[in-house]
Amino acid sequence: MIDIKESDYKLKQLHNKLYQHLESQAKNWKSFIFAQDKGFYQGFDEIKIDGWRNTEKRFDSYKIEKHLSKNKHALDIGCNTGFFTLYVSRFVQNIIGVEINPYLIDIANDTKDYLQISSAIFYKSSFEDFVPNEKFDIIFSLANDETIDGNTKFTFKEYVEKITKILANKGLLIFESQAADAYDKSKFEPKFEFLKEKFNVIENRIVLSEYPVNVPERIFLILEKK
Ligand SMILES: C[S@@+](CC[C@H](N)C(=O)[O-])C[C@H]1O[C@@H](n2cnc3c(N)ncnc32)[C@H](O)[C@@H]1O
Repeated sequence: MIDIKESDYKLKQLHNKLYQHLESQAKNWKSFIFAQDKGFYQGFDEIKIDGWRNTEKRFDSYKIEKHLSKNKHALDIGCNTGFFTLYVSRFVQNIIGVEINPYLIDIANDTKDYLQISSAIFYKSSFEDFVPNEKFDIIFSLANDETIDGNTKFTFKEYVEKITKILANKGLLIFESQAADAYDKSKFEPKFEFLKEKFNVIENRIVLSEYPVNVPERIFLILEKK
């Protein structure tokens, strides 16, 4: 058993590593950095990291546990620091996180090692270039289908078409709208119409969101591939 002091020391070491990655990101990443004011976009109570969007609270608000099980293969598109991916990894057989910003993937991998999780794998890649060698039962697209950093090259249709191609029959797309669509819901209507062509809508709800501060809620969908 590790005593309290040793566990505090290990957590401190992890924090040092994570903050070093944030520093490298600030120096070298030329695109917009989400939540730079706080350091972290995703928060994670388990490792005492405060971010704009708390992982545990998000997971609870999504009420998705009933759709997850130990025989499912999952993908998290634009996984950011991977905290949500790592949290979900405990409920599925395995999960892949794909993220274009390499500094965020360094954070995800150090956190994965600290938590001794083997069922999550992170790839430094755009979703556009990502070539999986399996089909997924569950795909997470959280605040990601159109990113304000300009790094999403797919149109919404191309994005959804790639998802449907790599999603297993009857697979689930767990979707949270990106900020601008939540701010002006009429912007989301054509996207929703297109999603309905490809998916059956299992749930359509509003969830709370703390970031950005002018967007207090987002559209949340659970969709099943037709
Ligand atoms: C608004 S954040 C959402 C992060 C995460 N999905 C969540 O909800 O906590 C968007 C993320 O997508 C990443 N990103 C932007 N364009 C991408 C692309 N083409 N492929 C993969 N990741 C991308 C950004 O670096 C950022 O981490």
